[in-house]
Amino acid sequence: MTSTGSANDPREEIFPELTRDVIARMKDGESKRLREIMSLVVSHVHAIVREAKITHDEWWQAIDFLTRAGKMCSDSRQEFILLSDILGISMLVDAIDHVGGPGLSESTVLGPFYAGQQRELASGESILLREEEADPLEMRGRVTDSEGRPIANALVEVWQTAPNQLYDVQDKDQPEGHLRGSFRSDAAGTFRFRTILPVSYPIPDDGPAGQLLAAMGRHPFRPAHIHFMISAPGYRTLVTHLFLDGDEYLGSDAVFGVKPSLVIRPRLMDGINTVEYDFGLADERESTRVQVEELRRQRR
Ligand code: BEZ
Ligand code: FE
Repeated sequence: MTSTGSANDPREEIFPELTRDVIARMKDGESKRLREIMSLVVSHVHAIVREAKITHDEWWQAIDFLTRAGKMCSDSRQEFILLSDILGISMLVDAIDHVGGPGLSESTVLGPFYAGQQRELASGESILLREEEADPLEMRGRVTDSEGRPIANALVEVWQTAPNQLYDVQDKDQPEGHLRGSFRSDAAGTFRFRTILPVSYPIPDDGPAGQLLAAMGRHPFRPAHIHFMISAPGYRTLVTHLFLDGDEYLGSDAVFGVKPSLVIRPRLMDGINTVEYDFGLADERESTRVQVEELRRQRR
């Protein structure tokens, strides 16, 4: 057996020609990008198997785990998104593919509970379809570009859990579309709606992702938040949340989605908890230019 790496590197010691052979056989693959990514996948997974000295039993457990995750998936359950989220992969992809900078809002995970575009409501309307025992909240937002100029007619989609810690899509007792809605920003870029204070909740932990969390000694909770997806022609779609200050899980979100700029503290205005927040969207052309420059810088 020959080795090209350092004699002390356990990843290179065992059967290195196998890794080289698997990678070399991709040479006729059509997509250069796929070959690049799969070469990395193969070399990193082989490195894990070598370094951890994975046994047949352990590899079988991994295959069984992935098989169970696949079987758990349905139209309303996506176990692989949960796995990507709890392992920090979703936030890492977002850190790479999100355009940030002055005047732009930070993004976070989409999560598995976006249910497609909902009914469009008039400014100031409530997203509740039934009464809930919870403190009311008034959300006042403004959509701007990076210079703070208003973006009119942006589509603002919002969703959150009910006080029972469930989204409507998880709970057949909630009316479909409860605590969800779409709004349009006006000429000043503003929108507003009424809702209730969100609550912290556990991500679905009755499947393989939950078992893995428990095995790693972690809890499944997310701090209270409201989801936002804001889109407008010519701008990059912003997927983000606003989190409630003071939540006990802010420092240990099960999916690593919290960023300080997204933590809000409602203020009492006219006797009602009110949040005012500006959402800055990246210009599509500008963000492509920024990304190209960053790529060039990395390849230099
Ligand atoms: C959510 O916030 O809806 C969510 C995000 C990631 C995993 C599970 C739920
Ligand atoms: Fe959520």
